[in-house]
Amino acid sequence: MKILVTIGRGGTGKSSFTALMAKCFIEAGQSPLLLVDADPDQNLAEMLGVDLKEAGKATIADLLVSTFIEQGGTTVGVPPTQRIESRIWESGLYESQNFDFLAVGTKWVEGCYCMPNSALKGALESLTKNYRFVLVDSPAGLENLNRRITSHVNDIFDILDHSKKSMDHVKRAYKIAKEVDMKFENFYLIGGYRFPEKLGNVAEAELKFKYLGKIAEDEQLDDYVLSGKSLLDLPKDNPAYLSVQKILQNLGYL
Ligand SMILES: Nc1ncnc2c1ncn2[C@@H]1O[C@H](COP(=O)(O)OP(=O)(O)OP(=O)(O)O)[C@@H](O)[C@H]1O
Ligand SMILES: [Mg+2]
Repeated sequence: MKILVTIGRGGTGKSSFTALMAKCFIEAGQSPLLLVDADPDQNLAEMLGVDLKEAGKATIADLLVSTFIEQGGTTVGVPPTQRIESRIWESGLYESQNFDFLAVGTKWVEGCYCMPNSALKGALESLTKNYRFVLVDSPAGLENLNRRITSHVNDIFDILDHSKKSMDHVKRAYKIAKEVDMKFENFYLIGGYRFPEKLGNVAEAELKFKYLGKIAEDEQLDDYVLSGKSLLDLPKDNPAYLSVQKILQNLGYL
């Protein structure tokens, strides 16, 4: 099992990249696959054609609140980790033919709920073992990821745009990962669709992380996002899809 996490500044194309990676893994038969939307705005769901409400599924935040907070922490003889894990399997996990999906949701974004957070981490550790790849769209910062979702990932992809701020984002994200003792094997740079291709080497030299290439700018993808179509339905010759496929091929994942 490998956990791949996508981070980056607002609007750099994190969710689209995560959806395109999912399409690559699905087309290559690299299953089972779990997608985790750690964005309170839940853009990833729409990009995958997932409607949680319609499927009668709850977000993890809702399940934590109903399991630990509304019920006042009543003990039922089952450890918290197992309690939340079974709630996630029953009521949180969206299952489709090609992938499973979880949304973290919003409710408990503020405040420190140490017990639910650690129960959730334990539950996800157990649950994610069932997958070959776990893809996390994680805009809220590695400190949040570390506190609530997982402290150990394989790859972190930081998506760059054409601003100096996105370089700063990389430095800060790396520093935070070290500070919160997040374990990871690789920290990679990826040029977002607005990133000038020729700056790949510059970014690599300045930031000292491997630059994996650029996500192609693509009008068709943008149209799909605007009209709420699933990016999984993009044609196989779509330029943005092909550029992500190349990145994953170079990593040996396809
Ligand atoms: N390869 C691409 N080519 C053209 N437009 C793109 C591409 N990728 C993303 N976009 C557009 O950029 C916008 C932001 O994309 P996306 O939602 O993937 O970014 P994000 O980093 O997840 O944003 P946020 O920080 O709000 O979560 C969307 O309107 C999307 O259509
Ligand atoms: Mg997003």
